[in-house]
Amino acid sequence: MTDTTTMKHPVLIAPSLLSADFANLRDDVLRCQNAGAEVLHLDVMDGHFVPNITFGPMVVAALRPHSTMIFDCHLMIENPDAYIPAFANAGADWISVHVEECKHLHRTLGLIRSHGCKAGIVLNPSTPLEYAFAAAADCDFILLMSVNPGFGGQSFIPSLLQRARLLRDWLDAHGCTHVQIEVDGGVKADNTAEVVAAGVNIIVSGSGIFSGNLEANIAAIRSAAEQHQSTWA
Ligand code: DX5
Ligand code: ZN
Repeated sequence: MTDTTTMKHPVLIAPSLLSADFANLRDDVLRCQNAGAEVLHLDVMDGHFVPNITFGPMVVAALRPHSTMIFDCHLMIENPDAYIPAFANAGADWISVHVEECKHLHRTLGLIRSHGCKAGIVLNPSTPLEYAFAAAADCDFILLMSVNPGFGGQSFIPSLLQRARLLRDWLDAHGCTHVQIEVDGGVKADNTAEVVAAGVNIIVSGSGIFSGNLEANIAAIRSAAEQHQSTWA
């Protein structure tokens, strides 16, 4: 049996490119990396699954040579299976898919892993956690949305905290201690502590990092996370 008392995931900070300066993406990515962010969160939107359009694998491939950060592609698109190989080939390290869109979730997770990427499951704020339970053993991380996806700069939905606690407890009780929990939407330095205390260890932040001073914002999120780490952080 896994010893859950020693299974701790480090806190990882994941700036969301959605809030970067799209005329200077490379510079913003380098600033994030130099400020100590470990993960670059890349929001892929198709105008169908969500009411917004962002970018595809070409942008991921263009940025890849300029950064050693983990590239975390959050696919908010219909029919993700058709595009997973392209994002993997573009340099994605992690790829996550929404359970609301996947008819055959285990097959999709297997497809992601077959391309050498870590596989993630994403749940919208009102999607029952049971959808994650069914496939938790076959994924590497679970992304809980704390806003309805589609846009940056929305307000954090507080029910995330209870959902994260329930999920962390369920994962620990069911032999899935290896699964990390990521949060996305409305997270800033001022609510990072409670998010981490709820069992989240991957912190996505868009407007919370790119509004104002990027380096100071990343430092503030790091400080909040480290001062208030749960036993899981
Ligand atoms: C929303 C995206 C988020 C977004 C977060 O659909 O998935 O990653 O960039 O932005 P903030 O942190 O501003 O809510
Ligand atoms: Zn996202």
